[in-house]
Amino acid sequence: MDVLLTGGAGYIGSHIAVELLDRGYGVIIADDYSNSTPEVIRSIVKITGKEPIVWELDMTDAAGVEKLFCENKPDMVIHLAGLKAVGESVLEPLKYYRNNLDCTLTLLETMERHGVGQLIFSSSATVYGEPEHLPYTEDMKNGECTNPYGATKQMIERIIIDTAALGWLSAVILRYFNPVGAHTSGLIGESPRGIPNNLMPYITQVATGKLPELCVFGNDYPTADGTCIRDYIHVVDLAIGHVCAMDYCASHPGVNIEIFNLGTGCGHSVLELISAYENANGIKIPCKISPRRPGDLPESYADAGKAEKLMGWKTGLTLEAMCRDAHRAALRDSKS
Ligand code: WQD
Repeated sequence: MDVLLTGGAGYIGSHIAVELLDRGYGVIIADDYSNSTPEVIRSIVKITGKEPIVWELDMTDAAGVEKLFCENKPDMVIHLAGLKAVGESVLEPLKYYRNNLDCTLTLLETMERHGVGQLIFSSSATVYGEPEHLPYTEDMKNGECTNPYGATKQMIERIIIDTAALGWLSAVILRYFNPVGAHTSGLIGESPRGIPNNLMPYITQVATGKLPELCVFGNDYPTADGTCIRDYIHVVDLAIGHVCAMDYCASHPGVNIEIFNLGTGCGHSVLELISAYENANGIKIPCKISPRRPGDLPESYADAGKAEKLMGWKTGLTLEAMCRDAHRAALRDSKS
């Protein structure tokens, strides 16, 4: 079975590539390196001892995508390629709508032409917007997204659902909560370009001395310690969720669309994450309380019961493992 991983050199894609190669799947990585580097591919080979097929390719390049399908004939696609910086999407909405939608439309058109009918899509809990209730369940109505990045995820879900209704496509949509951590080798991990937007990469950069201190965005939320609560999930657990989704897709040919939350089901506050990081790694993270960040919701965590019931998937890695593994990868990264 050969799996095309679009965005396969990225943070999440590289961890999925490792899990697939370790299980004997053929892996075809397509990535334009806009938010990654070819070094990631060398690390995947080092970890697994196996070589993926690699295409340096912008997924909006229809002729290039066609060539890939002609030459490598994937059996299934995991689609992660896309721009993902929430703040940037507010400043450059057209870039986000053009790129993220175009990538997906080009991919689906090519899949249809080549008779490739199985797709796993990388979506986000951000599609829920303001939650009707907690924890988030897959049957909850999508709320209003406060940023174009989230809106592209909502639109792509809709495009996939409408296409799957035609019958030739079986798709699994995975809504990620907050992926953090890294492979235990420390060879791959999250290394965003520039100043990180997300909490864990910001913590790791403070921990490794790249940044002086962490700003905690708000301590006056209606939560136990006043800071926001999120469902942090280890990226390796998340990657394994994709393998389970592939198995589910392949073993349920009559099911055209299924949506799963990928989270632990457990929320942790910003202050809890910081102290877990300090304890796991024996270091102190200098931080100060700052004003709230616009658009942040007080609480977000998954009901992960559906994924367990239907796919037999649940997370196994602790918050401590997330912090330890994130730190190990950041240390390696800062020395390379
Ligand atoms: C977590 C908490 C911040 C940075 C975002 C996207 C979502 C998905 C994942 C993917 C919040 C606080 C953060 C900092 C802080 N996108 N924080 N200081 O906002 O839950 O989700 O990333 O590609 O679509 O919206 O994650 O890590 O940015 O924030 O205090 O320097 O940490 O306020 O409460 P978020 P995050």
